[in-house]
Amino acid sequence: MSTRAPAVQARQLVKTYPGDVTALSGLDITVEPGTVFGLLGPNGAGKSTTVKILTTLARPDSGTATVAGHDVLRHPDRVRRAIGVVAQKSGADPVATGRENLQLQGRLYGLRGADLNRRVTELLDRFRLSDAAGRQVKGYSGGMQRRLDVALGLVHRPEVLFLDEPTTGLDPEARTAMWDEITRLAGDEGLSILLTTHYLEEADRLAERIAVVDRGHVVVEGTPDGLKGELRGDAVHLELRAPVQDAGRTLLESALAALPGVRETQFDGRRVSVRADDGAAAVPALLGALERAGVAVTAATVARPSLDDVYLRYAGRRYSEAQAATGDESAADALAPAGGAR
Ligand SMILES: Nc1ncnc2c1ncn2[C@@H]1O[C@H](COP(=O)(O)OP(=O)(O)O)[C@@H](O)[C@H]1O
Ligand SMILES: [Mg+2]
Repeated sequence: MSTRAPAVQARQLVKTYPGDVTALSGLDITVEPGTVFGLLGPNGAGKSTTVKILTTLARPDSGTATVAGHDVLRHPDRVRRAIGVVAQKSGADPVATGRENLQLQGRLYGLRGADLNRRVTELLDRFRLSDAAGRQVKGYSGGMQRRLDVALGLVHRPEVLFLDEPTTGLDPEARTAMWDEITRLAGDEGLSILLTTHYLEEADRLAERIAVVDRGHVVVEGTPDGLKGELRGDAVHLELRAPVQDAGRTLLESALAALPGVRETQFDGRRVSVRADDGAAAVPALLGALERAGVAVTAATVARPSLDDVYLRYAGRRYSEAQAATGDESAADALAPAGGAR
């Protein structure tokens, strides 16, 4: 166990915007040093507002927060030196080259001469931008631009890196490449990463711990597997050749429910849904029981609980519904780079 201060500790953050918009309604998170922490929630949940407060770009109405051990309200300058920020909207200068962007950022953090050049070359290389280093950023692909954004956030070797929706708007290929970059960063000595995302899969893949945010506060927190595991049981779906008649259904339901490790069964026409402790292990028993009852099965699938199921359980609605309900994705999302340099 580390003896370092938490990378991020936020307690009861509240933030309202003019027009009585409650962005945060008492948000708590703790990010252990050297870990990747995911803030997962639909659009409008309060993720960017949290990042703005933690990166000293906005003040909470109430609540406290420390980043790398420094209080964001009392020592914003110390916080800014300790962090790198990759905002939801790119902070790079489109008419400057990739190399120029990195050099400027480095100078803002006090790097000069050979040290600066070495760091810039290292980052260009690391983020596969060496060949494009002399080209204007406006000609970069979305994926290249995003990689440059991350490189910009790392110039001064921060302790804590904030990635606000690092893959939103990227095509699937660029998204996968960015996931690989983030996974590599996570292996860096001592770097702590707080990433926000509205992609369930992204949080699942990248974050060691996840806080599910809904309407300005954390509804549940844990490891992805832990959260899914708490839902206890896999979903087994069986497709029947013919619907079971009402008369036989009750009998069949109780026969299936009596099998070891089977929790619930639901018949819906030709479809039977079962919750089982271990889905794969339950399938042979289920098939056997149905065969003995003379019911033919044409297909069986086992699905592990997903983060979507986790969200449904704790937020009380489907993730896709919450996401659809928020409409505009681009509004109110701009976030300037750390230090407000540009
Ligand atoms: N500058 C602002 N002025 C007014 N409302 C805002 C502003 N920024 C965010 N909001 C509102 O606060 C809520 C949370 O927004 P945000 O933190 O951007 O959520 P997320 O990043 O999770 O999509 C939303 O309802 C959003 O419309
Ligand atoms: Mg946002």
